[in-house]
Amino acid sequence: MNIPKHVAIIMDGNGRWARRRGLPRKAGHIAGAKSIKSVVLHCNKIGVKVLTLYAFSTENWQRPKDEVDGLMKLIKNYLKNMRSYLKYNVRIRFFGDLSAFSEDMIDKMNQIEQEFSKNTGMVFGIAINYGGRDELKNAAKKIAFLVKNGELNLDEIDEQTVESNLYTKGLPNVDLLIRPSGECRVSNFLIWQSAYAEFYFMKDILWPDFRPRHVDMAIEEYNRRNRTYGGVK
Ligand code: FPP
Repeated sequence: MNIPKHVAIIMDGNGRWARRRGLPRKAGHIAGAKSIKSVVLHCNKIGVKVLTLYAFSTENWQRPKDEVDGLMKLIKNYLKNMRSYLKYNVRIRFFGDLSAFSEDMIDKMNQIEQEFSKNTGMVFGIAINYGGRDELKNAAKKIAFLVKNGELNLDEIDEQTVESNLYTKGLPNVDLLIRPSGECRVSNFLIWQSAYAEFYFMKDILWPDFRPRHVDMAIEEYNRRNRTYGGVK
């Protein structure tokens, strides 16, 4: 079995999961957060090099205040308990514009990245206040700044220059992008990194019900795909 190096998951369907049970949307996110750990540990165990989960997008601020507050509280609590991952040898990285968060939350995220940096296993990426367009806009700004300061020649700008100015700098491109809940779109998630990703949309499962076996199903399908990267195979 060929294990994809970088798996990315859009954790979709929390709201519908809650609605079907007559619960508030917040309850769906709480249930969704509980799905995370076994999926992370499974991916680490089978040899995935990077697993990125979409926790909060740059567009999610538009949701009702009550829901945004609930999500922030949930994410904060999750950060508090992240030390429990330390023994699994995973590394942790946060992808997104972290400047939108409170100082103590930023400190906590930096502290976690630092604390886990000695580990050597899978990179567990958490996309938070993340938007693919925002990421590319920021990369363009950083590159323009280097050119303006005479540190980089216009002719030297290549794809590698862009890559090295993304949040995911140094990590492999996405091989497999999984989205449960039936929506078939990328929603601004890792748009540069997913240029040649295989997409796996699952319509019969909502994120709170997502389990390691669903990762295996996606990887089985991934192995049936013929990746040509624009060429012929
Ligand atoms: C999409 O479902 C899900 C989100 C916008 C948030 C995902 C967050 C979590 C699973 C938990 C918090 C994350 C961490 C790292 C602790 P939706 O609300 O759009 O569902 P719907 O389409 O059914 O309404």
